[in-house]
Amino acid sequence: MSPGDSGPPRPRAGGPDRAAALAQYRRRAGVYDLELALFEPLRRAAIAQLAPQAGETVLDVGCGTGLSLSALAGAVGAHGAVIGIEQSPEMIARARDRVAQQGWRQVTLLCAPVETAPLQGRADAALFHFTHDILCRPEAVAHVVAHLKPGARVVAAGLQWVRGVGFALNALVLPAALRSVTSLRGLGAPWRELERCLGALEVQPMGLGAVYLASGRVPEDC
Ligand SMILES: C[S@@+](CC[C@H](N)C(=O)[O-])C[C@H]1O[C@@H](n2cnc3c(N)ncnc32)[C@H](O)[C@@H]1O
Repeated sequence: MSPGDSGPPRPRAGGPDRAAALAQYRRRAGVYDLELALFEPLRRAAIAQLAPQAGETVLDVGCGTGLSLSALAGAVGAHGAVIGIEQSPEMIARARDRVAQQGWRQVTLLCAPVETAPLQGRADAALFHFTHDILCRPEAVAHVVAHLKPGARVVAAGLQWVRGVGFALNALVLPAALRSVTSLRGLGAPWRELERCLGALEVQPMGLGAVYLASGRVPEDC
């Protein structure tokens, strides 16, 4: 630990904290891909549910190191577009390397907080994969939804508190959440803010209830 380094940021009881999130992912960027390997089946299920099509524009909200980019870029093809939004310079640097190595000309990466990201036009679909801090920010969710077409598809997936008989599994959810988010608020129903914008979502518990997959559409009259 370097002088002045006060250790890993602690999730707050209140809402997400941008400075803490930047510090959290500065530390984590180097090991992130390895740590997320366990959750690849959920990523695949989320992208399958999103069903990106050739020629579409898809937002990868909080894209991190770009682990979803291969599947998204492949699905939209050379005539589509994938826009990754990520505030951590260390995480997006890895995504940029991935894009450069693969030569994905259809991928654009924006290094910005989602809530103020310079989005233009309206996309066909948006993915929120393991982005609890973003989903907790009404202004971030509203900014994304404002840049989606009426009828656009939205999928969110990530950790949640386990309810009912599997309650003891929260002993595994808690340490995973402590590494990923700066606020535990809303972890009982992480899709709630999205639901406020889109209306009712279809929510499936997965992984014995420790993770969820939520999907919906932007209302046609939006
Ligand atoms: C757990 S990672 C998920 C990365 C990627 N979606 C994935 O599935 O691997 C969460 C990411 O959200 C980013 N993030 C958190 N709050 C953000 C915000 N307000 N705006 C942009 N990015 C944010 C973090 O920097 C981090 O890279």
